Amino acid sequence: MGREAYPAMAIRKIARLGHPVLRQKARDVTREEISSPEMRRLLKDMVETMHEYGGVGLAAPQVHESLRLAVIEFDGDSGRYDTGQAQSLLVVFNARVKVLDETLSGFWEGCLSVPGMRGYVERASKVEVNYLDERGKPQTITADGFLATVFQHELDHLDGTLYVDKITDKSKFAFTEEYSRYHLEEGEPEATE
Ligand code: NI
Repeated sequence: MGREAYPAMAIRKIARLGHPVLRQKARDVTREEISSPEMRRLLKDMVETMHEYGGVGLAAPQVHESLRLAVIEFDGDSGRYDTGQAQSLLVVFNARVKVLDETLSGFWEGCLSVPGMRGYVERASKVEVNYLDERGKPQTITADGFLATVFQHELDHLDGTLYVDKITDKSKFAFTEEYSRYHLEEGEPEATE
């Protein structure tokens, strides 16, 4: 058997805060691209990378690909976030977000591109997302609670926005350890990536 029969795990390197790719506006993907072997590979790698680092979502610019693609997946009780909510794998191309409820919900967010930090961010509590799935088929999903925050966090990445830009109370930006020690007891839910 050649090596091709056992393709190497492809954990991609994650761009960190300060890398220009995180600040670019990503471009839409064509339906032809969605079905291409290169995109299949990128998608597989993104899911593996998200799993490897315990993220609940990952946007393509975070792996140095300036494309409007994100993956989201989390269970309710394990890993970095205790969400009480679960979401099976969502593959989201060319997403557009519409706010359905402008009431703000706050979560302590983190980001694989800003390792070791947490920050409290308030976002719209309910959104509708229109996107193309992994087969290029149009889909609409309504999200609230933690999923609404994850969507907004991931899709912000496609416009070059990071959660740190959206922390209004800078006293609620902390290293993970200090977050756990001083802020976790405040009863504010934690979230994202
Ligand atoms: Ni992020």
